[in-house]
Amino acid sequence: MNPRILVLGADGQLGREIQRLYTIKNFEFIFVNRQNLDITNYSGLLASVDGLKPDWIINCAAFTNVDRAEIEKDACWAANAQGPRNIAMICSSKKIRLIHISTDSVFASENYLFNKISDVTNPINEYSRAKVAGERAIIENSNSDYWIIRTAWLYGKDGKNFVSAILGKLQMNKPFHVVDDQFGQPTWTQNVVHAIFGILESVMNPGILHIATPSVTSRLEWARTIAEIFNYDVSLILPTKSTQNKGVAIRPKYSLIEPSKIEGIRNDWLIPPKVSLSHFFAS
Ligand SMILES: NC(=O)c1ccc[n+]([C@@H]2O[C@H](COP(=O)([O-])OP(=O)(O)OC[C@H]3O[C@@H](n4cnc5c(N)ncnc54)[C@H](OP(=O)(O)O)[C@@H]3O)[C@@H](O)[C@H]2O)c1
Repeated sequence: MNPRILVLGADGQLGREIQRLYTIKNFEFIFVNRQNLDITNYSGLLASVDGLKPDWIINCAAFTNVDRAEIEKDACWAANAQGPRNIAMICSSKKIRLIHISTDSVFASENYLFNKISDVTNPINEYSRAKVAGERAIIENSNSDYWIIRTAWLYGKDGKNFVSAILGKLQMNKPFHVVDDQFGQPTWTQNVVHAIFGILESVMNPGILHIATPSVTSRLEWARTIAEIFNYDVSLILPTKSTQNKGVAIRPKYSLIEPSKIEGIRNDWLIPPKVSLSHFFAS
């Protein structure tokens, strides 16, 4: 019988990318969204897992609005910390393999520095603190195999992301500001999905992985690259500083993760972001 994969949070941008690409041989995928299955509800989750009997769970569910997380702390912690704990406990008791998604922003630094998997986390906002707690809950509660994928600055066809926000502003054809003092590793959802498929197919060693491009860019440079690739007027984008953005969550200047290189699978996340973005544009 083919292994059965249960994807949680399947209507988010990463979940939808898995839905788009999942025609992978020898796996049976089941996609559930928040309406079908809320990961904060332990008994509901347990009942669903008992019914569906997956061999693997991929957790794409999360509270991802970094600014709202400062206000809706309980909801953020429920989805990003308690949810992963629920999933890990159920996976452990039923020997289900777990792939969980986490974030570069478990790290924050004032300096250009690539964090290694073994580095100590130092989250600086509510979203990131809850994501760290989610990672710990999995590490502490898992007796079965788990993989935690930390990724960064995700963009894909679905959902709200930096690329769609910049394109929305460019379409208005009026000048706007983008910060030049936050640096990161823009990563296409498709490249993360290839890493997930690599894990499913090769069942590599469990643990934490860093799936992000090695090329670092500022928000401003990235916005200009987006304008260039999508043929908009680059001069509409003007520089500003994070201190000018009032009423938003504090964000790291740098939250860089040293990308993992994995033998025997497609390491597409190592492609420079401009090249990935042109593939995204053409897709
Ligand atoms: N986006 C980024 O730039 C970025 C960067 C690094 C890491 N990540 C991580 O990557 C993963 C996927 O992110 P994404 O960009 O695909 O986010 P997304 O588009 O916001 O998708 C998250 C999905 O989870 C669902 N969800 C929220 N709470 C839930 C709950 N209690 N039970 C079940 N489903 C729930 C959401 O439903 P609703 O829409 O109904 O709330 C949404 O469909 C997350 O773990 C995120 O932390 C994202």
